[in-house]
Amino acid sequence: MYSENEISEFVDSEDLKYQRIELPYGIKTPGEERTETINLVHNELKKGQTVLDIGSFLGLFCIASLQQGASKVTGLELNKEKLRQAKQIAEFLQLKPKYLRLDVEEYPRLDKHDLVLCLNVLHHLRNPIGVLRYLALHTNDTVIIEAAQFGIREATKFVMRDIKSFIKSWTRDWKSLQTSRILLGFIPAIIKNTSAAFIAPYSPNTSLRTFFFSKAALDTILNSHMKLFSSVKIKKSNFKDRYFIVCKKLKIKHLVVVSGTCGSGKSTFIDNMQSNGYAAQLGANKMTDTFVTGNILREQKLSESFPNQFNNTVIFHYDINSINRHELHSYERDQSLDILTCADKISIVLLAPSQKILLNQMVHSESKDGYLSSYHNNLQKKYKSLEWLRALHLDWLEFLNRDSLNLHSYKFYECNSTNNILQPMTDIDSLKMLVEKRYSES
Ligand SMILES: C[S@@+](CC[C@H](N)C(=O)[O-])C[C@H]1O[C@@H](n2cnc3c(N)ncnc32)[C@H](O)[C@@H]1O
Repeated sequence: MYSENEISEFVDSEDLKYQRIELPYGIKTPGEERTETINLVHNELKKGQTVLDIGSFLGLFCIASLQQGASKVTGLELNKEKLRQAKQIAEFLQLKPKYLRLDVEEYPRLDKHDLVLCLNVLHHLRNPIGVLRYLALHTNDTVIIEAAQFGIREATKFVMRDIKSFIKSWTRDWKSLQTSRILLGFIPAIIKNTSAAFIAPYSPNTSLRTFFFSKAALDTILNSHMKLFSSVKIKKSNFKDRYFIVCKKLKIKHLVVVSGTCGSGKSTFIDNMQSNGYAAQLGANKMTDTFVTGNILREQKLSESFPNQFNNTVIFHYDINSINRHELHSYERDQSLDILTCADKISIVLLAPSQKILLNQMVHSESKDGYLSSYHNNLQKKYKSLEWLRALHLDWLEFLNRDSLNLHSYKFYECNSTNNILQPMTDIDSLKMLVEKRYSES
């Protein structure tokens, strides 16, 4: 236990701005009141959950999380001095958060946490979008972001000057201050409602600020560019004209991926899965399970396909040639495949019919009035190469084999229209061997 004198002496002698923390004997650090954020954390935190706080500073939100029932709390902070002060403050309060001196931009290897906080840090990062993805992949349940927007102050200082000269260049006889005032008056509203991101004006005298995201920009990044959150809610913060984003991580108990190239029979497999007994074998139910396709996921916000955070079984129709069709170039870059990281258990069904059947089925299912679109016409030519087919299928299996995916939670099946049997495979290597054999010259 520390005496009142010891705590007062610490508070009086140290530089403790920004976060007001209540210490024993009614002593407080002199920072700003952050009750609104504490209440938000309280609302989102379920008892016994783990918390990760990025840029934990003096540890206000680590302490608040422990006091609100978190089972384990980790604070990541770059600044050595802040870490020393934070450790001392936690000791005064007899709490034990884990404080680590780590740079989040180096993507440290950490366990997933239930609740991840990233409060007022984003605009100091060199690669904020990379960090957002890292946070999304390192959370089990919720991410809370508090973000700075491009302020009216910056707008007046930097943007207005540019806008004025822009308008001048277009309107030769533009002299009226009145018109200028009217036009400039719209700028704050435009800035707030745009989906743009801004580069922070550089100043060597303040801490490094890099990018400001408008609300719509962060919503697009979190809800469309990545497919990891089932809901992204934006709320106003009273702290310095900032805003909060509360993101709920999509959770799927069992994801059944019905994969194959165009014409392999994915839709037929899914349509008949109930009557053929595949549904029972896979533990899926076409009538009641959520159904998504790669295209639906790419086209919509994830929240439109998954209005609920928690999902039992999901059937996912995935065209393995879509990375070529949509110029995504690799499976890693296909946002629709993000949902693989949200599932506890995954069953991969590969439909890989022989070259002859594939060609017939593709032409039959894709012809309209006896004609193929130029894409399908091209595909028909590609399908005539066994080497191309082998490489396509092996690339897909290679992607599934990468170590960032949790392979032990996977089950593999193969099904081809010759015998209509859904065959479980012992592992991914046996599926690779089957593909090698099926698409080899002999
Ligand atoms: C503006 S303060 C916000 C503190 C706290 N999150 C809050 O809202 O009260 C930003 C904090 O993030 C830390 N920080 C900045 N870049 C970081 C990085 N790359 N990795 C970890 N911490 C970082 C800074 O040292 C600083 O303590």
